Amino acid sequence: MGIAAFLCLVALVSEAAAGGWRHTQGRGQAKEFVYVYDLPEKFNKDIKELPTIWHPEQYDIDQVLHKHLTHSEVNTKDPSVAKVFYIPVYLGRYFNAQWQRFSDPSDAWLINKECHGLDSVDCWAEKWKVAENATSDLVRSAIAHVKENYPYWNASNGADHFMVFSYDHGKCEMAKALRFEEFGEMFSIQAYGSLVYRSNAKVQAVDRGDSYSWSGPSTWACYRPDADVLVPVFSPYGHNTILSPFAVERNISLLMRFDYPLNDGKSLVAHHGHRLRKELIDYWQEQPLNGSDLGLRSTKARPIPAARNTQDSARVWRAITFGCIPVTFFRAFDLPFQRHMGMPYADFVLNIQPDDYRQLNARIQALLDNPSQLRRMQEALERHQRFFVWDEAGDGGIYTMVEKELTLRAHNMGTVQSVL
Ligand SMILES: *[C@@H]1O[C@H](CO)[C@@H](O)[C@H](O)[C@H]1NC(C)=O
Ligand SMILES: *[C@@H]1O[C@H](CO)[C@@H](O)[C@H](O)[C@H]1NC(C)=O
Ligand SMILES: *[C@@H]1O[C@H](CO)[C@@H](O)[C@H](O)[C@H]1NC(C)=O
Ligand SMILES: *[C@@H]1O[C@H](CO)[C@@H](O)[C@H](O)[C@H]1NC(C)=O
Repeated sequence: MGIAAFLCLVALVSEAAAGGWRHTQGRGQAKEFVYVYDLPEKFNKDIKELPTIWHPEQYDIDQVLHKHLTHSEVNTKDPSVAKVFYIPVYLGRYFNAQWQRFSDPSDAWLINKECHGLDSVDCWAEKWKVAENATSDLVRSAIAHVKENYPYWNASNGADHFMVFSYDHGKCEMAKALRFEEFGEMFSIQAYGSLVYRSNAKVQAVDRGDSYSWSGPSTWACYRPDADVLVPVFSPYGHNTILSPFAVERNISLLMRFDYPLNDGKSLVAHHGHRLRKELIDYWQEQPLNGSDLGLRSTKARPIPAARNTQDSARVWRAITFGCIPVTFFRAFDLPFQRHMGMPYADFVLNIQPDDYRQLNARIQALLDNPSQLRRMQEALERHQRFFVWDEAGDGGIYTMVEKELTLRAHNMGTVQSVL
């Protein structure tokens, strides 16, 4: 096994040297292996009618993948020959509709209904929990439907089944109330690849603490690296919006996304990277990089830390589409198409460990001072941009990447290891 993995790595490296990373299979080699369950409309079509005040399209990964996988050549109408099974529930819109029932009509984030004396932060947290519970119930009910009406889930305890969890923290937001045994071994398609975050953040992955009595996995990993498929959040920018890194004019030159450890005691939502965001903004105000312009979009070669930059944000993918070298702050995250398909992020992304954020200016300056290195990164970026668009045209962008990942799952089912 070790040797096979090593050879695989060599093959990827030599392909890269020969002028770019390539798929290991051509498009469409694997056909007719994904069965899409035909669920009652309350799980998908009806949800499209639910009212929301705020619903960015980035949460519609579930809807666009349902549409795609229903008519793609990987689709089979015959479940008895299928290798993987898709349970299509529109959780993204459902989640937003649930908590926004308590929002002020003028501003989704102003949650002021049924607070029962709670202050605004606590009311917000409670209604978020209401949405997590409601979404979990919908997941539970979709699994029950599939279990009762078809034999396939029981045959594998769900290991060849998947759902799309399109909210920020994937299944840790949308199926959080499920116990592991309810979830089975189902895998997910999601945008969140933290290797450390778990469904119960208070229970550490390794050190569970004396007071925690363990009776089976009541806490589980939000992302299972050997099973789950990571994708960029949905955005409508297609092939024709790709801007070369060598285009003379652009409006965004650098974007960031942040990671920070849980429970650092500094922030309510440290795992979103909000705390590091604050530290970075303070840092840039104290010592701005020459030529930078904090908080404003501007022209070429001016690095900008934009707001709201977590992995689940659309911004890093927009940066790639618009020909910008992303600057990221990841400690322990997988990125889309990296682990199983060898997407070489290090070739075109500048990652800085969160602990080292004070190196930011020096690292950017070093890159600007090394035009040949910058050029190599821009060339690598240019070679890979087309894999990051939600566009069925051309070679299929993200849709084709997802199909290739599903092909790997179909062939690896017997070897997928649970990290629980
Ligand atoms: C969410 O569900 C749990 C049980 O799974 C319950 O204890 C909790 O009160 C619920 N929270 C809200 C806000 O509905
Ligand atoms: C699958 O197993 C569950 C019990 O875990 C059972 O209720 C259900 O009927 C089974 N489904 C089928 C199709 O046999
Ligand atoms: C940059 O933004 C300006 C103003 O919004 C717009 O007119 C221009 O077309 C943009 N340029 C590019 C390359 O996107
Ligand atoms: C930034 O600009 C100032 C004056 O414009 C200059 O004195 C300083 O050396 C520059 N710093 C760097 C790191 O280039």
